[in-house]
Amino acid sequence: MELVPLRPPDSSLAPPPFGRVVTSAIDLSKCLDEKTLEAIDTALTQHGLLIFQGQRGLIPEMEWAFVSSLPWLDKEFSTSLKTSHVAWWQFAECPMVRRLGDAVDDTGEPLALLNRIGYEWHTDGGGASYLYCERAPHSPRRTTLFASGAAAYEALPADRRIEAERIMVHYSVRFVTGDTAAVDYNAGARMAPSGLRLAKACTERGPGHATGKGAHARPLVRVHPLTSRKVLWASPKNMDHLEIDGCALSVERSRETLEELMRYGTATQDTALVYEHRWNAGDVALMDNRHVLHSTTPYPNEHDDHGQQLMHHISVKARRPQPGWSGVGILRTRGDGCPR
Ligand SMILES: [Fe+2]
Repeated sequence: MELVPLRPPDSSLAPPPFGRVVTSAIDLSKCLDEKTLEAIDTALTQHGLLIFQGQRGLIPEMEWAFVSSLPWLDKEFSTSLKTSHVAWWQFAECPMVRRLGDAVDDTGEPLALLNRIGYEWHTDGGGASYLYCERAPHSPRRTTLFASGAAAYEALPADRRIEAERIMVHYSVRFVTGDTAAVDYNAGARMAPSGLRLAKACTERGPGHATGKGAHARPLVRVHPLTSRKVLWASPKNMDHLEIDGCALSVERSRETLEELMRYGTATQDTALVYEHRWNAGDVALMDNRHVLHSTTPYPNEHDDHGQQLMHHISVKARRPQPGWSGVGILRTRGDGCPR
């Protein structure tokens, strides 16, 4: 398969150290042979992000057939997850595919879920995500940011790597609704301009979203099960607090610490490690969520082209167990007491 490096919108910047554009003539609307699927799988694992261009007329069943044919993904689990409660922004005929963007129908009613939360670095879990741009305005260009969690870890100074490896990230819905980011925004949640911490918590909580729901902890540094690279892996919006060497930090200290650690690999103004993808109709982005973080960008809702962006989105869980990834504990313990 032919691949070329990603090209940043600013041509003076070097290509990011991850991701590739697939230049082979691959039509994702067709049933792909095993050899092609294997080549895609290998490239995705190695580079974390693949961009396909010029795809046309993809419909949900085709898209699901493609994504779910990647061998390391758990098709059965993801199907049951996405069909248990079908929302209006999911395709009724194939609910594993969701509509995102600001697209409206002829009467002005929304066709897709619009996330206005702005910068929001996160992963969609530990599997793969797929985005297809069915249509997008020419101006202003709609964008998504991508960063390599592996490069972000490797960009840390040595002492901060050691610190990061001692951290567990506790997640909860204490500061958000427990629903999508779009619902969180409507309930008042706001991200800091960096997208690395929650600047304002939700003021409302939807029915059935108890504060204790979904509480879990994951190490901040995980090891990719196939590449063995260490990866900085976190979703700041849903962070409750950090724990270092078994001791909980305050919420504010947790947010400051996570922001400090993640900004080496995600700060757009300071680093060439972030790739900004400007969407053209027909683009497909396929990402390995064990490697790559992504972020929305602020929505230009005052523009005349309002109603023109329509994306298809799929996220699929990985098969378990994933050696070195599932259930992994912190990588390092210092054992000299609680941090202040
Ligand atoms: Fe996402």
